Amino acid sequence: MDKIIIEGGRPLHGEIFVSGAKNAALPLIAATLLCPGEHTLYNVPDLKDIRTILVLLETLGITYHYPEPHTLVINSDHVEGYEASYDLVKTMRASVLVLGPLLARLGRARVSLPGGCAIGARPINFHMQGLQKLGAQLELEAGYVDASVKGRLQGNTIYFDFPSVTGTENMLMAASLAQGKTIIKNAAKEPEIGNLIDMLTAMGAKIDGRGGDILVIEGVAELKPAATTIIADRIETGTYIAAVGAAGGELTLRNCNPAHLPSFLEKMRAVGIFIEEKDTVLVAGRSGPIKSVDIKTMPYPGFPTDLQAQIMALMTCTNGLSVIDETIFENRFMHVAELQRMGADIRVEGGRAIVAGTGMLTGAQVMATDLRASASLVVAGVAAQGVTTISRVYHLDRGYERLDEKLRQVGAKIWREKE
Ligand code: EPU
Repeated sequence: MDKIIIEGGRPLHGEIFVSGAKNAALPLIAATLLCPGEHTLYNVPDLKDIRTILVLLETLGITYHYPEPHTLVINSDHVEGYEASYDLVKTMRASVLVLGPLLARLGRARVSLPGGCAIGARPINFHMQGLQKLGAQLELEAGYVDASVKGRLQGNTIYFDFPSVTGTENMLMAASLAQGKTIIKNAAKEPEIGNLIDMLTAMGAKIDGRGGDILVIEGVAELKPAATTIIADRIETGTYIAAVGAAGGELTLRNCNPAHLPSFLEKMRAVGIFIEEKDTVLVAGRSGPIKSVDIKTMPYPGFPTDLQAQIMALMTCTNGLSVIDETIFENRFMHVAELQRMGADIRVEGGRAIVAGTGMLTGAQVMATDLRASASLVVAGVAAQGVTTISRVYHLDRGYERLDEKLRQVGAKIWREKE
């Protein structure tokens, strides 16, 4: 197992190429299960979670190859398996994304219930209720959801109590092959959903309402394979902006999409980070002191929960008071105790964290607890005085492509060692 070591306190200068978005690539890979043929995905990030979903899809019958780095070709001619085992789902909850496409194509899907995780309970009741609305029979048995349908799924109106991202994605995939019209109300609006809609549309699906919270899907009898490009990772982009805000310096981020970070960029400007946006390039830097701001995580276009931990690390480097409300997940403050080991002054009251900036953190031995918590410790580590050692970095490798290497290229003193 690797650990990451950072000698902090050096400003970051240079260029970073942002990778494709993990949370877009995962549903798009699942969507290749919908119909036979050869599907091509460009700009696929090289990540542990991508390797995990490909292992899962292989157990269902697909084959794949990379004709060149980041270009993934999936052949889904022979999809006969319909089960996502507990062993795979427990390592990656996004495995639940095979539920919709398998049910739509094979009329059967058996997927392990994910159980709790480091950031909250994360049930999948919306996915299950939505599929039942489309006519699926669902049984819970030995920790698995066994879903089946005789003939095709039937279009219907689905209302989400909360705009669930993967819930919306599962419904979009299932409804694309259903008979008749499906309306998803209170759908999630994250850019990753738009990427999936573009892929499904290229495959022949009929979907109206892209970007809005009401999606209308006119089911079709058949889909065909298509070639799609994965959008840039907005969370990776935001993580580098937090890092340069904390450590100082100036970064040019290439291959990104600033338009996908509306609320985040506004907050970063309020913090005192200068930001220039031009098409797919974003320049971010800090010349003077930074200010504290209050943050409330919200569904898109609100402030992303996946950047909450990194921004908390940034707030510890100010001299002000910051109130951070986490409204998406009930237990997403595991990084607090680790940041405290680095000298941060943070008080947690339910879903609220109150950060009293101390201006400067000091290096310490800390432990990664989940993906974004790990990223926040890296942000803290590059800014802190002294040496920070982060263990359990496999969490980081699930969702960041070569984070340590990319930061090294812009002047951070960061390296890996075996634990
Ligand atoms: N929820 C339910 N029932 C459901 C589904 C969701 O109660 O059936 C609740 C969740 O417990 C949570 C809220 O609704 O409190 C929102 O969850 P959502 O379903 O939107 O999350 P998700 O689809 O499981 C995706 C990302 C997460 C990201 C969230 C929120 C993927 C593969 N994962 O998860 O990404 O935090 O949306 O934006 O797209 C990460 O990348 O680190 C990560 C955790």
